[in-house]
Amino acid sequence: MACSRKTNRAFTIIIALALAALLSKKLTRDYPVEAGGAQSAAATDTNRHARDGYVGDAACRPCHADKVDSFHRTAHYLTSRSPDESSVLGKFTPGSNVLKTSNPNLYFRMDERRTDGKEPDFFQTAVAGTPPETTSHAERIALVIGSGGKGQTYLYWNGDQLFQLPVSYWVDLGWINSPGYRDGVADFARPVTPRCVECHATYFDAVSPLLNRYNTVGVSLGIQCEVCHGPGREHVEQEASKPASPSATAILDPARFPRDRQIDLCAWCHAGSGWSLLPEFSYIPGDPLDKYIDLPPPDPNAPLDVHGNQVGMLKQSRCFRSSNMTCLTCHDVHVTQHNLAEFSHRCLSCHKPDSATFSKASHPVSDNCIDCHMPRQETNLIVFDWNGRRMRPLVRNHWIKVYSAIRAPVANR
Ligand code: HEC
Ligand code: HEC
Ligand code: HEC
Ligand code: HEC
Ligand code: HEC
Ligand code: HEC
Ligand code: HEC
Repeated sequence: MACSRKTNRAFTIIIALALAALLSKKLTRDYPVEAGGAQSAAATDTNRHARDGYVGDAACRPCHADKVDSFHRTAHYLTSRSPDESSVLGKFTPGSNVLKTSNPNLYFRMDERRTDGKEPDFFQTAVAGTPPETTSHAERIALVIGSGGKGQTYLYWNGDQLFQLPVSYWVDLGWINSPGYRDGVADFARPVTPRCVECHATYFDAVSPLLNRYNTVGVSLGIQCEVCHGPGREHVEQEASKPASPSATAILDPARFPRDRQIDLCAWCHAGSGWSLLPEFSYIPGDPLDKYIDLPPPDPNAPLDVHGNQVGMLKQSRCFRSSNMTCLTCHDVHVTQHNLAEFSHRCLSCHKPDSATFSKASHPVSDNCIDCHMPRQETNLIVFDWNGRRMRPLVRNHWIKVYSAIRAPVANR
């Protein structure tokens, strides 16, 4: 009977949900994430997963002001923010605040509403139908995801559930259909999972069993110092109380990690989504990442995508395989780096001209090795519709090699 098949499926779904709920309960019990308070014996074991040792960036400033100030201008820190005049990059002025869709009966309008003396509130409204018979659905932007280097996506709360909004912003284009959304449909129902915010924020306190329920006060935006350095309380107390001790610093310094653990730290967010084996936000830098996230090794036969998997791409490179290269060979995450000549200097630190690791003598030394050997290419992972066109942003390919489409440089001598 058709009806029984349906019921069966409904049951399977219910059972799956119940299992998921049980599983996530168990995981939360084993890995307490609440700060402070009396702790059970089980909790003490996993104390290092607790949040009590976290103090926030402001606590670092008295002694590391330069690092804090420059880091606060980077994409990592700016990657999630509360909405305000400077963080929301889309335009709200009449004429620039509408996104038409391929559906003549649907458009989106972006509004800024001010109450005296307060920060404005920002709304996305879907307007359906033909005037005067229109219906609309509005939601308030509660969180901004994306520094805006390429673009931004906006989130809203429905009670304690977090959802993505259908309209995003892209540099040079303005308002767009959110990546992966169908043009011409108003979809307000996409849940925002813990893995999404794990890559884009410092902390969200997930509440099981629903996959997008959070404790709305337990939110810590932007990627902050302690994401990479681990809890800072002990270090702060120790450094504040002793004049200048030469020994242990009581804080994690990734420079001291072995190579694999250095890569793991970046791979946590730069190796694709993977499957979480332990609750999100429990990874502590320095630990082997494969205990926490199952990141399938890239299939050597499949064409790798350039988006979001700098680790997978870099690992294909002969540079990486024949040296001790890590992400830190080229990147200092405490500062904004976009100068290709400076990056090219890093290449030359290994590929010394006139040495065996440089190319043939005819290959000139240039101050931009990057655009030929790490070209920007279209991604297939972020795809969105804009003005009836399919758009794929350009991202930097981290597979360092000779690209056949790119011609050899000619020495100008
Ligand atoms: C009271 C001053 C003080 C505060 C506050 C402070 N630090 Fe430090 N930090 C120091 C000093 C001094 C050193 C150098 C210690 C040494 O070399 O012995 C240091 C070193 C470090 C190192 C390198 C450690 C190593 O072993 O190489 C890191 C990483 C670090 N701090 C991060 C932080 C972070 C993150 C915060 C905020 C959570 C912070 N610090 C707050 C004084 C401070
Ligand atoms: C907690 C997740 C997380 C970790 C850990 C992390 N990143 Fe990122 N990183 C991101 C996100 C998210 C972005 C995109 C931010 C944006 O533009 O909104 C990003 C952006 C970047 C960028 C581009 C910066 C720019 O100006 O456009 C570089 C380079 C980078 N990361 C390098 C690293 C390196 C190297 C490591 C390891 C030391 C690392 N990241 C660790 C999440 C992370
Ligand atoms: C995305 C990861 C990441 C974040 C976020 C981060 N750091 Fe670091 N930090 C590193 C890595 C990797 C190293 C070691 C290599 C290096 O120096 O770049 C390091 C090294 C350091 C050092 C020791 C080396 C030195 O140059 O003195 C200090 C101090 C430090 N970080 C402070 C901070 C502070 C303060 C913040 C927040 C404002 C911060 N870091 C945010 C990854 C990070
Ligand atoms: C596995 C980690 C990871 C997950 C999960 C993830 N992102 Fe990202 N996201 C990144 C990294 C890394 C970048 C920047 C580097 C790149 O494009 O490869 C980025 C870039 C972005 C950007 C562009 C930022 C800019 O200005 O360049 C937006 C917007 C964004 N992500 C939104 C989201 C949203 C919304 C979700 C969840 C629904 C999500 N991401 C899930 C890691 C992640
Ligand atoms: C940490 C040292 C190191 C750095 C930094 C480095 N490389 Fe390499 N690179 C190597 C080694 C080692 C090889 C392999 C040489 C060999 O096998 O003869 C290599 C190989 C290459 C190749 C040949 C790749 C192939 O598939 O045939 C190119 C092209 C190259 N590097 C360009 C660059 C560029 C451009 C940069 C900077 C963006 C760079 N490298 C940075 C060490 C490095
Ligand atoms: C050989 C040098 C080199 C190494 C090693 C390297 N990068 Fe990069 N990375 C670059 C250059 C060059 C850019 C382009 C900067 C620009 O265009 O502003 C870049 C850009 C990025 C971006 C921004 C991507 C985009 O499309 O805008 C991210 C994210 C990033 N790197 C992460 C990483 C991670 C994670 C690792 C380690 C797995 C790593 N990088 C290793 C040279 C390097
Ligand atoms: C205009 C594009 C272009 C620029 C700029 C450029 N390269 Fe190349 N490079 C090539 C091409 C094409 C080849 C392959 C043909 C050849 O060997 O001349 C090559 C070959 C190489 C090789 C040898 C690869 C092999 O094993 O055959 C290395 C190493 C290399 N380049 C490094 C660099 C470095 C380092 C820089 C910056 C100082 C640089 N290149 C700048 C296009 C470029």
